[in-house]
Amino acid sequence: MTAGKQAADIAKLPDAMTHALRSLLGEERFLTDAESLAHYGRDWTRFVAPAPSGVLLPISISEIQTIVSLARQYQVKLVPSGGRTGLSGGAMAAKGELVLSLERMRKILQVDKAGRSLTCEGGAITGEIHRAAAEHGLMYPVDFASSGSSQIGGNIATNAGGIQVIRYGMTRNWVTGLKVVTGTGELLELNQGLVKNNTGLDLRHLFIGSEGILGVIVEATLGLTDPPKNPRVMVLGVPSMASLMHVLTGCQAQLSLLAFEFFSDLALQKVTTGQGIQPPFKDRYPFYALVEFESASAEAETQAEQLVEGCMTQGWVRDAVLSQSESQRRSLWRLREDISETIAQWTPYKNDISTTVQKTPALLSEVDALVARHYADLEVVWYGHIGDGNLHLNILKPDTVSVEEFQARCKSVSHHVFRVVQELGGSISAEHGVGLLKKDFLHFSRDPAEITLMRGIKAQFDPDGIFNPGKVFNA
Ligand code: MLT
Ligand code: ZN
Repeated sequence: MTAGKQAADIAKLPDAMTHALRSLLGEERFLTDAESLAHYGRDWTRFVAPAPSGVLLPISISEIQTIVSLARQYQVKLVPSGGRTGLSGGAMAAKGELVLSLERMRKILQVDKAGRSLTCEGGAITGEIHRAAAEHGLMYPVDFASSGSSQIGGNIATNAGGIQVIRYGMTRNWVTGLKVVTGTGELLELNQGLVKNNTGLDLRHLFIGSEGILGVIVEATLGLTDPPKNPRVMVLGVPSMASLMHVLTGCQAQLSLLAFEFFSDLALQKVTTGQGIQPPFKDRYPFYALVEFESASAEAETQAEQLVEGCMTQGWVRDAVLSQSESQRRSLWRLREDISETIAQWTPYKNDISTTVQKTPALLSEVDALVARHYADLEVVWYGHIGDGNLHLNILKPDTVSVEEFQARCKSVSHHVFRVVQELGGSISAEHGVGLLKKDFLHFSRDPAEITLMRGIKAQFDPDGIFNPGKVFNA
């Protein structure tokens, strides 16, 4: 972004608002320099240029309420912002909005061991929540590669999934209380951490997955659980996608599963070369499954070994490695978890699709046929949470093609992919959210009546359209 553009956008903020924000936050917490605007104005997507008017760093709920009331008064838009690790542009500020960052509100407020819950500010880092729970012998089970920088408010606003959904479910399953500031500046305390509360509509669930369009999440109470006993990881070399599904069925029946992930050979090549890690096998296979399971007893381990042998006899698995130590378990996980970061340098066009586990084989084969037809000349990297019916299909941009040309081509193929998803009753965004990048495709997953109701709900919570305009659907 140029200095000229920055000056033009800042000029759009009414003087009285600029003055009020300066006296509320000081110079330190109201940033307008070009570097901060570029840094805070974007998430991990690279298809839209950041262009906010300023960055606000409140330290209290009452400061946030004052900011919202100023935004209403002067009709200035706000983009709630967490760790900005999103992949659908939900936290992009590209039209002169003010970024409302929760970065200075990251405290863990309480861990309640008897109630097995943790309360924290909206900007708490996911990894710090994991550590705080572990200090009390408990676990917050939503985990993913970006947990070192993602914030809980963003996780909740996108109903984040991750690598152990097959066992523990998505973020929604773990949120027992929320404090939110809505578009009217009102502070709502939703469900207060209660396990049981049947008193009408549960508004907490509207904020989970709301992508910042209803307001901002300022505090959360989360359920905690026991950590798994002796988790072990196997990586399996698999000849086909159909075989993957047979292996999944066997693992579901015979193991205490914690994760069932997959990745393609190209994904493995990219991650081992890019991160300098050792491939798991001498030979290469079209696909790999990463299976994590609880191995609480010697029988559990024997059962896993027998399962793999059986799969080999059937021809569903060609080779296998089982972690023998905690450090090996972590190294094997890197083969899957480091893929996203490794391929980021190719500005991937991301499809994050799902259907029911039962229909996943059909989704795999139909989308695979489309990919072979439309992307024969491009590198296509498959990975994902196949045990949840969730596939990540990443198309890599060749150096020779501009970002715009590449995006336009992939968007046109998306229509075909999403038609298949729709026919199979699936979702065009299993976990990354709609944001800016998928809003033109929302109708493939939601019918017009639902979208109309969503707009009505947005208008109730945010009558002036202050929060995250143009995300999920057009404002
Ligand atoms: C993952 O499963 O690795 C994440 O959803 C990120 C990605 O899809 O790239
Ligand atoms: Zn994922």
